[in-house]
Amino acid sequence: MIENNDMQLVRDENGLALVADGQTLRGDFTKMIPRIKQGAISKELLARAAKIKDAEKPLVALDATAGLGEDSLILAAAGFQVKLFERNPVIHQLLEDALKRAADIPELSDIVARMELKHGDSVEAMKNLDFTPDVILLDPMFPERQKSALVKKKLQVIQKLEIPCADEAEMILTAMAAKPKKLIVKRPPKGPYLAGLKPDFSIEGKAVRFDGFASPYERLEKFRASVK
Ligand SMILES: C[S@@+](CC[C@H](N)C(=O)[O-])C[C@H]1O[C@@H](n2cnc3c(N)ncnc32)[C@H](O)[C@@H]1O
Repeated sequence: MIENNDMQLVRDENGLALVADGQTLRGDFTKMIPRIKQGAISKELLARAAKIKDAEKPLVALDATAGLGEDSLILAAAGFQVKLFERNPVIHQLLEDALKRAADIPELSDIVARMELKHGDSVEAMKNLDFTPDVILLDPMFPERQKSALVKKKLQVIQKLEIPCADEAEMILTAMAAKPKKLIVKRPPKGPYLAGLKPDFSIEGKAVRFDGFASPYERLEKFRASVK
């Protein structure tokens, strides 16, 4: 299927891929297998940030910005049931295909069985959820990523499709209003806080930072008043 002059969605023996500027973008969970093994998963920054002590199981996470689903896979490997929302139709198709392929891979099948992908705008969906997520993850495209010379090739292709988050404030306040026990926001290490809202904690690695808010709904009006 041809999307436009620069990009093509193609299916080959390895599944669905987006080809653009000589680069191929494909959802691929197999490269994540070393990171989700027992012993490795608890060291993942996202698994640490999302951990909820003494909670009733099964915990439910909502990934409001699924992309190619790698963060969701970490959450699912950490034991969460994960509801993934992706609004871009091409990225949604790539992720759907990657999930289907992973279902046939023994190291991944039980984990992806806990991942439920939906096509649509999570900001709209979060206004009318029929469940209360324990954790919500936000990873909207960071506008400055577009300018970085160090940006990974995969991201260069994905950025041709993605629209930078137009309303960070609406996204984070809507997520808070959905009453998660924890709200996690993924940011570049030195990047500003999403909508300027100071988190309760941050876990920072070399390439990424996770900002966390505990029970943010309880302080929603205070956050609403201090968005930038
Ligand atoms: C930076 S990527 C996320 C990468 C993802 N965390 C991963 O591990 O692959 C952001 C993704 O969120 C999607 N997105 C942004 N805003 C959204 C919204 N309101 N609803 C659904 N998807 C959204 C974009 O289309 C894009 O695919």
